[in-house]
Amino acid sequence: MRVRPANRRLGILLSGRGSNFEAIADRIASGSLQAQIAIVISNIETAPGLERARASGLTTAFIPSRGKARDEFEAEVVGVLKQHDVSLVVLAGFMRILGATFIESFPYGILNIHPSLLPAFHGMDAQKQALDHGVRFSGCTVHFVDQSLDGGPIVAQAAVPVMVSDTADSLSARILKEEHRIYSEAIELVLAGRCEIEGRRVLIHE
Ligand code: GRF
Repeated sequence: MRVRPANRRLGILLSGRGSNFEAIADRIASGSLQAQIAIVISNIETAPGLERARASGLTTAFIPSRGKARDEFEAEVVGVLKQHDVSLVVLAGFMRILGATFIESFPYGILNIHPSLLPAFHGMDAQKQALDHGVRFSGCTVHFVDQSLDGGPIVAQAAVPVMVSDTADSLSARILKEEHRIYSEAIELVLAGRCEIEGRRVLIHE
């Protein structure tokens, strides 16, 4: 199935620091990624990423998740994304696992970035998991989101070496630099309609 978003309007979901969001916003500002950030949504009111989005004049929304059933929260977020005519949802450090309500509202229209070479080290603290496991290379993965945890079809990956002297922090920093590069590249591939899903594989067309 060829993925063809109806427009280039992004909805960014974040819960924390927001460095991936900023990297994407920078690429858009410099003209190297042709997209519009239609809205930045956070479930955490004090998320630094949300603060930065507000400060740069983007449309933002704080939608609390605490104390709500998952379906209720997701229906609210989906409603706001649809109101803003978003065709590609970009998870950028969004610390909630999405359920069926959300995923079925944006079929192959949600991307996530994970700080490991999936399928290795899914879930939390992926960089520490890689270090503890003793792998020589780790990296990051941009993938479509489906019902599996960090398991949807892979759009882009980048590898980095793991040094003997690494801590979880130093490895995370090396990986993060690559995250900031490949997320925008993957978004462009999807927006340009160049991705075709064939089972687990994403074929990239010219
Ligand atoms: C990144 O490491 C990303 O891979 C993971 O969460 C972290 C978010 O960082 N999903 P930031 O908020 O984009 O700085």
